[in-house]
Amino acid sequence: MVSVTRPILRVENLVAGYGKLTIVQNISLTVNEGDFIAIVGPNGSGKSTLVKSIFGLTTIFEGTIIFDGANITSQKPENIARAGLGYVPQVSNIFADMTVMENLELGAISSRGGNGREKRQVLERVLRLFPDLSPKSRAKASSLSGGQRQMLAVARVLMAEPKLLILDEASAGVAPIVAELLFQKLVEMHELGLTLILVEQNARKALSIAERGVVLVQGKKAFEGSPEEISHDKEIAKLFLGEATNI
Ligand SMILES: Nc1ncnc2c1ncn2[C@@H]1O[C@H](COP(=O)(O)OP(=O)(O)OP(=O)(O)O)[C@@H](O)[C@H]1O
Ligand SMILES: [Mg+2]
Repeated sequence: MVSVTRPILRVENLVAGYGKLTIVQNISLTVNEGDFIAIVGPNGSGKSTLVKSIFGLTTIFEGTIIFDGANITSQKPENIARAGLGYVPQVSNIFADMTVMENLELGAISSRGGNGREKRQVLERVLRLFPDLSPKSRAKASSLSGGQRQMLAVARVLMAEPKLLILDEASAGVAPIVAELLFQKLVEMHELGLTLILVEQNARKALSIAERGVVLVQGKKAFEGSPEEISHDKEIAKLFLGEATNI
């Protein structure tokens, strides 16, 4: 059987930042359906700015972003979400004053249609993936543990059935054992067919589960390749990932 790879996201020569400040410098990136990509790099290298730019949250100076065949460059985030792009930001990714179920219901708002029955099926699927959320459905999100909050943040975005899910530092600030569980969930989601972009400071872990890695340094794409190419090349690991990652 011939497998056809279809690009779901194409970032072309993107220059973006905040106000007049340029952070992302001429980055191009193609993500095919079914891909699992890790974006890694030192603190402040522009990882969050790159994914925020894709989601319409920065100033775009040059370049084009094509998602699922449509030009989404500088579109409003709500329109980008409705087009099927799911984004879990690095901070403020849940509504703490609302219940777990309210958060999930809000997540379904940007879904692309579906009747009541289909929406219930999506909820069931999401809760099967994150069973710990079920008994907490009436609890305020603020009462959840750090790990449960991150699970809710991912679950909330999954409620819209995204064609591509972008996670910015899903494991930041949670205990290592919880981070491990989260990474397992991502692998499970990918196996279920979801296309994923994972932004991670924990480069070693991210590259152990992703299929391809993109290394950013000072706003530029410094390297792209298989996790093996990145981690086996001592020069790249040392130059681009920093000593601290111990890759
Ligand atoms: N809202 C903002 N306004 C102005 N500059 C910003 C803003 N957010 C980030 N920056 C700057 O952009 C640069 C890249 O930051 P960014 O958050 O994209 O990096 P990062 O790779 O995600 O870092 P981290 O690993 O710490 O999350 C940094 O110099 C940062 O200070
Ligand atoms: Mg960041």
